[in-house]
Amino acid sequence: MRRPLIAGNWKMNGSTALVKAFGEAFSAAKLPASVDVVVIPPFPYLEAARQAFNDTPLKLGAQTLNPQHSGAHTGEVSGGMLQEFGVEYVLVGHSERRQLYRENDEQVFDRLMAALASGLTPILCVGETLEERDADRTMEVVLRQVGYVMARLETAHRTKVIIAYEPVWAIGTGRTATPEQAQEVMAGIRAYQASFDIALAEQLKLLYGGSMNANNAAELLAQPDIDGGLVGGASLKTDDFYAICQSAG
Ligand code: PGA
Repeated sequence: MRRPLIAGNWKMNGSTALVKAFGEAFSAAKLPASVDVVVIPPFPYLEAARQAFNDTPLKLGAQTLNPQHSGAHTGEVSGGMLQEFGVEYVLVGHSERRQLYRENDEQVFDRLMAALASGLTPILCVGETLEERDADRTMEVVLRQVGYVMARLETAHRTKVIIAYEPVWAIGTGRTATPEQAQEVMAGIRAYQASFDIALAEQLKLLYGGSMNANNAAELLAQPDIDGGLVGGASLKTDDFYAICQSAG
């Protein structure tokens, strides 16, 4: 059985007040014990979040990391630093990083390796643009992004990666993939993983992302190959995020 995971990606949003509100809401409300819940705030809030989440089941994630360990990389943060601040998960290859900051598959791979080297669990984000979907290239694009990374990993590392399928056209648009659309792609990702190792494919944790909210989460999470969600907009409100976590339980 794959344990469900809900991750809230705050992107460049949030405040110390929001960190506090999450700490309070999630210690009072009892999250289902069967679900892992991760909050991914911007870097400056990590330490405050670590303290605020101390008595909650919430785990901490970061939005990116630099592939290097340390050195002359102004503005960057390394995996070792994140680990020191209690971070357990880190996003790599989010479509906003790929599009706005021109991260390519090779850079995504380097970041993912740095995450593994620092003992962090990488959440590898993949997904097609609307143009690519309309051109019937969804599977090709997604499997290229997944394959570039997975084909270069040793088995021991492959088991540690979580993959988030996030169709770019569904991110922040309010336009969610239908459960069938998401399931089709995610089954394809799992089948690809099975080409390396069937048992490993069974363990692979797959998250859906793209306008997941309190209303559509249950239906998406009911799909056989969807093991959780990567939630953006709806992760900024304690009630909505809580409801999504409940749907995964
Ligand atoms: P969204 O973002 O839920 O606001 O669409 C998801 C994501 O980018 O991870």
